[in-house]
Amino acid sequence: MKRPSVQISAMGRSVPARVMTNYDFAAIGIETTHEWVMERTGISERHIAGPDDTTCSMGAKAARIAMQRAGVLPGEIDIIICSTATPDRLLPATAVDIQASLGASRAAAFDISAACCGFLYGMTMAEGLIQSGAAETVLLVSSEKMSAITDWTDRATCVLFGDGAGAAVIRRSQKGRGILSTFMRSDGTLADLLYRPAGGATTPMSPAVLEARTHLVHMAGREVFKHAVRSMAESADRALDGARINGGDIDLLIPHQANLRIIEATAKHASIPMSKVYVNVDRYGNTSSASIPIALDEAMQKGVVGEGSLVLMVAFGAGFTWASSVVRL
Ligand code: COA
Repeated sequence: MKRPSVQISAMGRSVPARVMTNYDFAAIGIETTHEWVMERTGISERHIAGPDDTTCSMGAKAARIAMQRAGVLPGEIDIIICSTATPDRLLPATAVDIQASLGASRAAAFDISAACCGFLYGMTMAEGLIQSGAAETVLLVSSEKMSAITDWTDRATCVLFGDGAGAAVIRRSQKGRGILSTFMRSDGTLADLLYRPAGGATTPMSPAVLEARTHLVHMAGREVFKHAVRSMAESADRALDGARINGGDIDLLIPHQANLRIIEATAKHASIPMSKVYVNVDRYGNTSSASIPIALDEAMQKGVVGEGSLVLMVAFGAGFTWASSVVRL
């Protein structure tokens, strides 16, 4: 029996109002320059949460926009999946806070933890849930308050991240639109290259943890860079193969927005010209799992892509995790 196709019905996004530029790091005692950060990463500025911005509030705002565009009422949502590396609390899931905020009382709600790949992992889960008949309407929310787990004394990492959320309403597809291929991989032997060493159940929060700052993101930048380039290339190949197309067929590549050099390497590998690559890392930095849905929503709202466009999405993140998908919008 042919499985039903599943599509992204509508997108939404939300980022905090506050913008922090590369020039603002001097004020918090970070020795860096705009030129250094631009040259190494392509990041010029990022949005940073204010006191009232939470992972739930940003996610719920993005979700409301996506639901309104899809014409979906809160009571019609069957499942809410929230991907986040920065839950507001460790228990219960941020997804249930989003559920309460939306009044989506019929839904089952849970979080997934797949770092920067959270949106593509979540989309693959949503597709399976709909195809199995477990759900008709899935709300996928990727919301990240990276500023809460950033070490603001470490210049090698604090310049990289930003806050924000993207959301998608996912349903059965119409008119041949939908998800054409998905690919997911992980390698837990490399977990210690990008992680938060403490603050979990093994080494709970304590004065010693706070002082050592081991509850914050630690990263071996060069190693991560190398793996990201390799895994994003593999991911692009696998999603294109899965959809039986090649890079030349793609209308827009939306890579995870971590670093412009990684984005350029991925595009080159997939033989996709930079004119067909969506880049907003300069304005948002790395918003982890929110980066792809923020970029997709922006591209749709700007008319860069529309109904019928063929989009390749590729991500890489802590874990390591890597993932990709081809969708016909
Ligand atoms: N401003 C100025 N100098 C900085 C700096 C900053 N913000 N951050 C680091 N440096 C310095 C380092 O102290 C080091 O100085 P030293 O040679 O005197 O010791 C020098 O720059 C080189 O550091 P290194 O870490 O080797 O730089 P790099 O060329 O690898 O660039 C990253 C650092 C983080 C930009 C780069 O490794 C990277 O982008 N990695 C991937 C990160 C990523 O995308 N992670 C998320 C994946 S989802």
